[in-house]
Amino acid sequence: MTIQITVRVDPDKCQGHARCSALAPELFRLDEFGNAQERQSACHDPDLIDKAYIARANCPEEAIIITER
Ligand code: F3S
Repeated sequence: MTIQITVRVDPDKCQGHARCSALAPELFRLDEFGNAQERQSACHDPDLIDKAYIARANCPEEAIIITER
């Protein structure tokens, strides 16, 4: 069975701490205001899935939302 997740940044919670883009640059980038945006929302690569969870664990604002599908 292939695990797939969807990654999203809640723009109302993100305060631009930039840990997500440092830990998982494949998944997150910063916009012109320094807030995170998803580079890709759907993800099934196991290494990227691990990175997504690490990024979520390191976001002080709990702004990263991961949904398993
Ligand atoms: Fe924002 Fe959290 Fe990343 S505050 S920039 S989603 S580490």
